[in-house]
Amino acid sequence: MENRDLSALPALLLPWYREHRRELPWRQTKEPYPIWLSEIMLQQTRVEAVKGYYARFLAALPTVQALAACDDDTLHKLWEGLGYYSRVRNLKKAAQVIVERYDGEFPRAYSDVLALPGIGEYTAGAICSIAFDQPTPAVDGNVLRVFARLTDDPSPIDLPAVKARTRASLAAVYPKEAGEFTQALMELGATLCGPNRKPECEHCPCRAICLGFRNGTAEALPVKSPKKERRQEDRTVFIFRCDGRYALEKRPEKGLLAGLWQFPNVPGHLTTAQALSQAERMGLRPREILREVERKHIFTHIQWNMKGIYLEVSETAGSYRWLSEQEIEAQAALPTAFRLFWEER
Ligand code: ADE
Repeated sequence: MENRDLSALPALLLPWYREHRRELPWRQTKEPYPIWLSEIMLQQTRVEAVKGYYARFLAALPTVQALAACDDDTLHKLWEGLGYYSRVRNLKKAAQVIVERYDGEFPRAYSDVLALPGIGEYTAGAICSIAFDQPTPAVDGNVLRVFARLTDDPSPIDLPAVKARTRASLAAVYPKEAGEFTQALMELGATLCGPNRKPECEHCPCRAICLGFRNGTAEALPVKSPKKERRQEDRTVFIFRCDGRYALEKRPEKGLLAGLWQFPNVPGHLTTAQALSQAERMGLRPREILREVERKHIFTHIQWNMKGIYLEVSETAGSYRWLSEQEIEAQAALPTAFRLFWEER
């Protein structure tokens, strides 16, 4: 059995982190609300993309109370383009719980934090360690990679048992500077020990205890189970224009992109002739086909292969909201899959 003693990890990692950490907006605070927001935004989105959204969101909704009271359209607009919109709906639900059950004060107990909507073990661990210095690891893909390399563990990191093991091993070595330790692990996993590139072991503060480095396996780790293929869906999207207004509708309150705005669309790739009859079935009178383009958009489990058809129609008819360019920009959260067509109008 190899030596898996990680008790030296904090003493190696903390000085390195203090010297090399990136100054990020959410690292200026110990307040749980902005830390929570940053962790939710960062779950599926790169640091650079998050920065602007984070500042704008906090300026619009500076407190848990403001978030709890925010209407859904405003909320979706603040999240527009970030994707995974259930994240922001859960943020609001959790804010409402915090206001109602905890009198607006963010709960500190890990189990209470974990019970909030949209907060799983990763986020609860991040908030409780970063904001409250509790010894609660935050194990995401970055930390799983660092840990698999440190321990030269070839088990696929997507297995729940591997995550549980990683969390337990790290919890056992947490120092009192828990927030810094959590962020130091993330920082190492985002920089020297980052994804999809050769690890920079020559600069790594953990080299002395890293079994992956010692055994020459670091670069080949972590192991992942094969991914499932995405379901492919063809859709035809109609960009109907009349007198400078565009036909939009709200998506259903449940399912993919729930409650967001979209251009009218139907399954399948329609021919031009089929698209014209479809427009009539939608209650519209097409005057001219302006353009047809093909675009794709990738979600986690689905890929949309979209044919976009730009049509001039003669009246603002049908069961749509006909919005001007300004109204779309100011009010309607148009997810990226549809915004593609808007930007090319
Ligand atoms: N990724 C997830 N959480 C992060 C954080 N707090 N800082 C930088 N990158 C992160």
